Amino acid sequence: MFESLKPAAADAILGLIGEHRADPRPEKIDLGVGVYRNAVGETPVLDVVKKAEHRLVGTQTSKAYIGTAGDPDFNSAMQTLAFADSVSADRVVTIQTPGGSASLRVAAGLLLRARKDAVLWVSDPTWANHSPLLGGAGLNIQTYPYYDAESSSIRFDEMLNALRGAPAGDVVLLHACCHNPSGLDPGEEQWRAIADVIVERELLPFFDMAYQGFARDLDADAYAVRYLASRVPELLLSTSCSKNFGLYRDRVGTLTALAADAESRAIVDSQMNSFVRTMYSVPPDHGAAVVSIILNDAELRAEWVAELDEMRERLSGMGALLHGALKTKAPEHDFSHLINANGMFCFLGVTPEQVNRLKEDFGVYMVGSSRINVAGITPGNVDYLASSIAAVL
Ligand code: LMR
Repeated sequence: MFESLKPAAADAILGLIGEHRADPRPEKIDLGVGVYRNAVGETPVLDVVKKAEHRLVGTQTSKAYIGTAGDPDFNSAMQTLAFADSVSADRVVTIQTPGGSASLRVAAGLLLRARKDAVLWVSDPTWANHSPLLGGAGLNIQTYPYYDAESSSIRFDEMLNALRGAPAGDVVLLHACCHNPSGLDPGEEQWRAIADVIVERELLPFFDMAYQGFARDLDADAYAVRYLASRVPELLLSTSCSKNFGLYRDRVGTLTALAADAESRAIVDSQMNSFVRTMYSVPPDHGAAVVSIILNDAELRAEWVAELDEMRERLSGMGALLHGALKTKAPEHDFSHLINANGMFCFLGVTPEQVNRLKEDFGVYMVGSSRINVAGITPGNVDYLASSIAAVL
C-alpha cells in the first residue's frame, strides 16, 4: 500500500519550527510560526489561564464525553464575544471545535453538504493553510486580489471588482482582523463597501477570526463580523482561542453559523453536529473549559483583557522598534509598512532569495513569502535583526 506514496513537502510555516530548533547559532531569531513571545522570547501560559486551570482541576468531576457541540457555556460566551448583540439568538448557532483549523474544516463540510460544487473566494495572499485545508476538503478555491507588494497596501478596488464578478451563492472568506499574512485590514468604511457588494451579489461571508483583540481591542476587532451579521441573512464564523488565550496546543475554537430564520438554524445545527461526528466525534474539553471559566467570571475576564492588551501593545511596539532600527541601518529603504500592520504578521518585503540568505547566513527564520511574526523581535535582538536585513538588501 504505502509504496505508492511520495514524501510530503514540509509545511511552509510549521516546518520552520524544527529548522530553527536545530540551528545551533545562539543569535538565531525565529520570526516564523504565529505564536506570541514576550520580551525575552518565551511563550508563557497566561496567568489567568493558570488560575482557571487550577479552578478547573479542583472542581471537575468527570471526564465523560461532552457532546459534538461541546460545552454550551463556552459556546454562548464565545458567541457573545464575537457578535455582542448584533444577531438574534434564534438565528445563530455556535459549536466548540478543536481549534480554528477544525472549525474551518467543519465549515467546509457544511458548505459541501449544502452545495457540492461550492466555490470559496480567498484573499491573495491568505494564510498558507487556507487553500490546502479548505481546498483539500473539496471546496473549489478562487482568489480575489488583496495585497499589493509594490505599495504595501490593500488592492481594495480590485478586490471589490473581483467580488462583484462572483456568482450569487459563492462564499467569500474574510479575515476579520489582523489579516494573515499582510497585517493590513480594511477600515470600517471599506468594510461597509465590502458588505454592500456581498449583499448586492448575494454572497455568503465566511469570517476567519483568529486574532480578536490583537489589532485594536475585542470590540473594534469584531466590527466587520458584527456589521456583516446585521446586513446578511447567512454568515459563517470560525474563531480560535490559540492566540488571544495562548491556548495553541489545547486546540480551542468555535464555528458559528447565522441562518436566515429559526427553522433553517435548526437544520444547520443538526448538519454541523452530524458532520462533527464523522470527523472527530467530539471536541477536546480542557482548553474550552478554561476559556469558559474565564469568560464567565467578571474578575478573570478583566485579568484576561489586561493580559491581552499587554500582548497587543508589545506586538505593535516591536513593529515600530524594527522600523526604527531599519531607518538607521538601511536608510535608503522604506519599511513604513511595518508600522501600518495589525497583529502578529506583516511582510518584510524582501525576495525569497533574501529570505533564504537571512536564514543561511544569519539564522533569521521567516516564511518564504517574507512574512514575519513581529513577536519574535525583542529589544535584545532588534539591532542584530536590522543589521542582518540590511546586509541582504
Ligand atoms: C501561523 O499562521 O503561523 C499560525 O496561524 C500557525 C499556523 O498554524 O500556521
